[in-house]
Amino acid sequence: MSFYNNLLNNKPKLLSKIENMTIKKYTIHPSSFVSEKASIGENTQIWHFSHIREGAKIGKNVNIGQNVYIDKDVVIGDNCKIQNNVSVYKGVTIKNNVFVGPSVVFTNDIYPVSGEWSDSKIVETFIGEEVSIGANSTIVAGITIGDMTLVGAGSVVTKNLPNNCIAYGNPAKVKSEDYRKE
Ligand SMILES: CC(C)(COP(=O)(O)OP(=O)(O)OC[C@H]1O[C@@H](n2cnc3c(N)ncnc32)[C@H](O)[C@@H]1OP(=O)(O)O)[C@@H](O)C(=O)NCCC(=O)NCCS
Repeated sequence: MSFYNNLLNNKPKLLSKIENMTIKKYTIHPSSFVSEKASIGENTQIWHFSHIREGAKIGKNVNIGQNVYIDKDVVIGDNCKIQNNVSVYKGVTIKNNVFVGPSVVFTNDIYPVSGEWSDSKIVETFIGEEVSIGANSTIVAGITIGDMTLVGAGSVVTKNLPNNCIAYGNPAKVKSEDYRKE
């Protein structure tokens, strides 16, 4: 059996870690790499081939799909669902109950140049409570998306979005307001 088949056929591991004198239990598939210096909340599940970097803080009951990259110091709240192939770079904060659709990319550098990197280039992004981000969307660095907003599939979000609206397109525009009851 190949190396990858071997990994895929392994059962996810239920792990316990003592953090601040409490024992946390979460599930990590053996094919994923989670830094010892990341904090993972109780009942969180991390599926195949994902990488969680040092300093990342992931809340309780979070479901992280396959091939997800969570960069250093990223903050993800409780009860979030991060679908397959999502990349979340340093400087991004995601609050509670957020849905991030498959292949969504967050960015942190407005003028990227290969070989030129320092944390001072990072432009922060904030994703509000109960936001949903449609498949294959790109969130340009420096954006705030308001609580309960829905971003349509394939959008490129280049400007802040208010609470409780539906926005989509490239660039994403608000198409309807009062999407959900507050
Ligand atoms: C944004 C969204 C919620 C809009 O749904 P809706 O309000 O029912 O809108 P409609 O389907 O009636 O579409 C209205 C118009 O917007 C267009 N449109 C809809 N979604 C769009 C999108 N994501 N990007 C660009 N245009 C879009 C439609 O083509 C239609 O155009 P028309 O008026 O010229 O015919 C939905 O299309 C969407 O993208 N949902 C996210 C799906 C997703 O990624 N799920 C992830 C889990 S798999």
